[in-house]
Order: sequence, then C-alpha cells, then structure tokens
Amino acid sequence: MPDEKIVSIPWDEFVSKVCLRQEILSLFEVLRKEAESRGLFLYVAGGPVRDFLLGREIMDVDLVLVGDWEIILDRVLSKLGGRLLMRSQFLTYKVQLGGETIDLATARKEYYSQPAVLPQVARAGLEDDIWRRDFTINALIYGLTSPYREKIVDKVGGIEDIKKGIIRPLHEKSFIDDPTRILRGLRYKVRFAFNFGEEFFRALKLAEEVSSPLSLSPTRLSQELVNFVKKEPFHLLYHLISELKMFEILKKFGLKERNFEEDDLIVLARARGELGEKEFQKLFLLSLVELNEQNLARLGFGNEERSQIEKYLKKIEEGLYYRDDILKTVETLERIPLFFLYRLLLEARFREMVREYLEKWRYVKPLIGGYDLKALGVTDGKRIGEILREIRRMKLLGKLNSPSEELDFAKNLIFFRN
Ligand code: CTP
Repeated sequence: MPDEKIVSIPWDEFVSKVCLRQEILSLFEVLRKEAESRGLFLYVAGGPVRDFLLGREIMDVDLVLVGDWEIILDRVLSKLGGRLLMRSQFLTYKVQLGGETIDLATARKEYYSQPAVLPQVARAGLEDDIWRRDFTINALIYGLTSPYREKIVDKVGGIEDIKKGIIRPLHEKSFIDDPTRILRGLRYKVRFAFNFGEEFFRALKLAEEVSSPLSLSPTRLSQELVNFVKKEPFHLLYHLISELKMFEILKKFGLKERNFEEDDLIVLARARGELGEKEFQKLFLLSLVELNEQNLARLGFGNEERSQIEKYLKKIEEGLYYRDDILKTVETLERIPLFFLYRLLLEARFREMVREYLEKWRYVKPLIGGYDLKALGVTDGKRIGEILREIRRMKLLGKLNSPSEELDFAKNLIFFRN
C-alpha cells in the first residue's frame, strides 16, 4: 500500500478553480461550518481533486460527509432556503438551492453480491470511502473540516499517477464488481491523454474471465457508452472509438461492432445540430454497432423499438426499390424518423439516396396550398391531396420553380385532364 501523502491547499486557492455560482460556494461554507461544529468530517472527493491537480477547471463538486447528512441537512436548508429533492439508496442526496441542484454523498462501503450488479452500500469511514472507488486518480480527497482541513489526502498513490499520467484501478477485482469502469477508464485515458497501467489490463482480464462485462445490464451499458458523447468533447470522439476498437472492448460487452470510420463523424456532427439530445444519443449508440437484433437488445432497445427499427429497415429497402418514382421514395423515407435516417447514412448502400433526401428532397413541398386549389373550384379534399402530390412530384423532378408555375400546372390538371 502506498504511503499516505498530504498536501496543504488553502480553500481560496482550491475554490479559484471551481466554476460554480457564488450561491453554491456559500452553501459549501455553511455546510462546512455546520459539519465542523459537530465534529464531522466533510470533504470533496474524486474528479474535482483530480482536476485541481491537473490544473483543469472544476465544473462539478461532489461533497462527502463521514456521518449522517440528515443530522445537518434540515438546518442548512432552512437557513439557505433550499429544498431536499431526493434521497437515493446509495445514501446520496440531491438538494436544490436557487436554480442549482447539488449532489451530496455519504462516506460509504460497497458490497457487490454478484459481478456487475449495483452495489449495496453502508455508511463507513474515510478509508472505506476511498478504497471503494474506481481509479487512483479518482480516489483523492480534499478536506473541508478537521482532521484534514484544507488538505489533499492521497492514500492510494493517486498524485503520483496523475503526474505520470497513468490510469490504475484500486484493486484487481474492480472491473468484476463494476465493468462500467472499463469504459470510464477509457474515457479518462483519452480525455487526459494518459496511459493504462498494467493493473488496468490485469483487472480487465479477470473481469473477462468471469464474463462480468457480459452481465452488465443493457441500460447501464448504454448509459455508460452514451457518456462518450455526453461527458467528453466531440473532438475526442473518434479517438475514443478507436480505443474501443483497439482493445476490442465492445466485443467484451457482447456487442458486434461496426467499422466506424473517421468520415462518420461528419454525419454525427450534422445530426447533433439537428436532433434532440436523446435522439442523438440513440444514433450514437447505433453508430457503434451493426444493426442486428442481438446488438439492439444488448443496447437496451425494447421489443417495440426493435420491431420499429426492423420496419424502418424494410422501408429503406422499399425506398431503394421505388427509385424510379421519386415521390414514392420521398414519401417512404418520410416515414423513417430522422435519427434513423442519419444512421442509414452510415450504410454505403443507402447513403446516396438518404443524403439526397436529407439535403434536398425533404424540403421540397408545394408553395401553393389547398386554399389556392379551392379558389380554383376544387372542393373534394382527396382530389386536393392528389393534386398537391402531383405538384410535389414535378417539383422533385425540378420542373416547377415558382408558385405561378405550380398554379398553372394545377389549372392544367383541373381543367384539361379531368
Ligand atoms: N466512482 C467509482 N466507480 C464508478 C463511478 C464513480 O468509483 N463506476 C467514483 C469515482 O471516485 C469518481 C466519483 O465516484 O471520482 C464520482 O463519479 P463521477 O461523478 O462519475 O465522476 P467525477 O469524479 O465527477 O469525474 P468526471 O465527471 O470528470 O468523470
């Protein structure tokens, strides 16, 4: 076990790196006083301490208390006009203060009854709370109250690993307990341009031997993969995916990966500008794998969504089949949701057709409407629909270029062809 290392850092210096509103920092001060007056140890753990040492901005601070939050929370919240939003089974709390929500954690031990399940937790001391964590670089703490007030405490060799740029799990069964850490480790490696220590590979091998990554639930697997786009900057995405490929990580989690190419990023970047967040995340997950039933189930797509996707795949085949009838092709593609059309852009067979649709065809709509046709004496709704479709077809063929041309075409249909 490495020697304990303690580094004094004044609070003002630590806080100068924290990008949080003054209101939140005052909450920390109130919490600190409250904990101190009761002799409870309060500290910052994990990412913020690591980021402080790396000289990076701190976007989020996890506060941990050795003891029972319930003892001090009521008083603090009534003093500041805050509100308790949630207590979790992991002894964590979410509180709301002003417009912000803040996470508070309890120093705890974790027990894993089986590989890859969520742990059972129990209140514990500092030592246990440090050793339950994933990597040495994430197991540093910064004390707000005595006995380690304004000190970074390193019991795991994390400071040295940050200096050397090494990702090392705290124990060799770490990934058996929690295989999401394999993907977390990969993110840290790429985010900080670090390397894996040999302990990482040993822990990975042990986890594989008991098939722990295969036991991870689909929901947790996809949530962790989604963190690649949720928590990491987009410019690192290709690097992240290349690492997944290099270490054959997706296979270990029971996924058959597709060959993600650098150009695919262009599609994802465009989709990100157009899709909502959830839809984009779905697209991202699907961009990693081949579109088959097994992959979709492994990524947590439910029965209904899987059968929808099967339908979309049939539709796109139809789209190809109707290629001679542009209107039919467009109307077929229109029934496929946007996130899936972007996914289909990644398939060479459909690329050209889907690109035309996304870039041009979908915007081609008649400029005149039912109202104009009624003014020409057409009263039957069905007939109006037919005429507008015919106008759209001609526009898709590039034959009608203005509202007056559309009107002339409509008149022609109404008065001369009936
Ligand atoms: N943690 C862990 N195992 C996990 C998830 C989290 O041990 N599977 C611990 C780590 O010590 C981590 C802390 O919980 O530092 C908080 O987790 P999280 O908020 O996900 O990470 P941050 O530390 O905030 O780091 P970042 O968000 O920058 O990845």
